[in-house]
Amino acid sequence: MAKHFTIFGNPVQHSISPKMHSFAIEGLSLDATYDKTLLEDGTKLKEVFFENKLDGANVTVPHKEIAYKLCDEVRGIAKDIKAVNTLVLEDNKMIGYNTDAWGFYQSIKEYDAKDVLILGAGGTSKAISLFLKQKGIKVSIINRSSKRLKDFKDFQTFTWDSYHDSYHDMVINTTSAGLSDDSYPTPKDLLDKILSNTKTAVDVIYNKNTPFLQLAKEKNLKTKDGSDMLLFQGVKAFNLFYHDRFDEKDIEKFMRKAF
Ligand code: ATR
Repeated sequence: MAKHFTIFGNPVQHSISPKMHSFAIEGLSLDATYDKTLLEDGTKLKEVFFENKLDGANVTVPHKEIAYKLCDEVRGIAKDIKAVNTLVLEDNKMIGYNTDAWGFYQSIKEYDAKDVLILGAGGTSKAISLFLKQKGIKVSIINRSSKRLKDFKDFQTFTWDSYHDSYHDMVINTTSAGLSDDSYPTPKDLLDKILSNTKTAVDVIYNKNTPFLQLAKEKNLKTKDGSDMLLFQGVKAFNLFYHDRFDEKDIEKFMRKAF
């Protein structure tokens, strides 16, 4: 029987997930479709999931937290992150997972960082910081304001004002600075200091040379954007849809064509 998948989001038009998953479906000769669903009211997510007879789905902004609450069961690190990006139908239940954090780790593990500094304290930062900590990596967080830092009780945290210099193997930008504007994620003089004290700079924003990455390149650091994170979260989600039936290297090979 043909399987049906979608991505829920608002907006969702820009999403590259349908392209990634369709390449994997085609490459692995499967009978399935993957489309986009614009969902304005996140509280309707579960109803729509069952009404549309979906076998699985991905969830993007701003619905990851509501999706977590609506699942019949949540598995793995999604329970700690309290947000899901992947839904799988199992015995008529909607099961939730989070593959964002795994995808991020997969994309940076080649650098073998032991100590990282994360810029920003939103949902993406929370997912990444929890996962990296579980992998034994020392994680510190720096954010513009102190309010969201309350969610990071088990981490060393700073605001721009309280930050003091120290070396980190890697600096990761999870703020939206540089996404639709040309701003730095911290004031320029502070970012100069931070980037002078590391080897590698990673941005979760993809397909864009953000001001953050540009400054890191000027300082001759190793740099990486968010494309591989996006790719690997998709690889893992796809295999969850198919109950781990495939070799992740094969899925990756086909999904890469979307970039
Ligand atoms: P996401 O789910 O993508 O992580 P989010 O939860 O809205 O997004 O979090 C956005 C993060 O980026 C926050 O840490 C925010 O800082 P505040 O807590 O002070 O609001 C940070 N942020 C957003 N725009 C920023 C900017 N222009 N400069 C620096 N930090 C910014």
